[in-house]
Amino acid sequence: MNILISPDLDSLSTRASEIVIAAIRAKPDVVLGLPTGRTPLGLYERLVHAHRERGLDFSRVTTFNLDEYVGLSPDDPRSYHAYMREHLLDHVNIPEGRAHIPDGSCERPGEHCAEYEAGIRQAGGIDMQVLGIGVNGHLGFNEPGASLAAGTHVTALAPETIQANAYAFGTEEHVPHLAVTVGLGTIMHARRCVLMAAGEAKADAVRAAVEGPVTASCPASILQMHPSAVALLDEAAACHLERLDFYRHQQRTWEALADRL
Ligand code: PGA
Repeated sequence: MNILISPDLDSLSTRASEIVIAAIRAKPDVVLGLPTGRTPLGLYERLVHAHRERGLDFSRVTTFNLDEYVGLSPDDPRSYHAYMREHLLDHVNIPEGRAHIPDGSCERPGEHCAEYEAGIRQAGGIDMQVLGIGVNGHLGFNEPGASLAAGTHVTALAPETIQANAYAFGTEEHVPHLAVTVGLGTIMHARRCVLMAAGEAKADAVRAAVEGPVTASCPASILQMHPSAVALLDEAAACHLERLDFYRHQQRTWEALADRL
């Protein structure tokens, strides 16, 4: 995994936006895998700004969101549908049929998952998968113990995730206990993965993901097996990494050579 450390979440968001914007400019019909949560808010703000101020065109972009709570309709303000409308989709020109988010209110979640997975395949697979990481190392809602090879599926949320996401629901009791998530197998088929992590609360999960063994106990550690994964960290999220000095050295070398690599 390539490790790039930024001073704070603001500069990390700028770096992430530069990577995504470059992907859209290089391939206007790019297929993006997108996360929700607090970490990518600055990324979405910058993408909206690039659309408004710099003419970034999303008209041929396709997106697949990572996950959605089971039991919430797309109209529910706490759903990830609502999150995506508020932070990205209402502000850029992605045609409606090209923005895909699992439907947590569908009657038959199992069939829906198979269709969602088929939709990703029909779109040609995900070119760039953007990811956050949970305090327990989850990717999407692939919680510790998840299959490292699964496609889109229904999963139970881990207690740490319910606790971490309670802010959006008022109290923990209101957080749904089930979700639809794109699986780790699907994530691993993406051509590039961009992991974003900020804040000291993520430092242990980041260390396990980057330097620990590849294990379902830390689902994000599967990215060590990905041929093109980059971890964008802020200083706080990077602070428990054992080989931090080496990553900084590597980053300086990489930045110096960037236009020749
Ligand atoms: P966060 O969520 O960005 O709100 O910390 C990330 C995640 O749980 O994957």
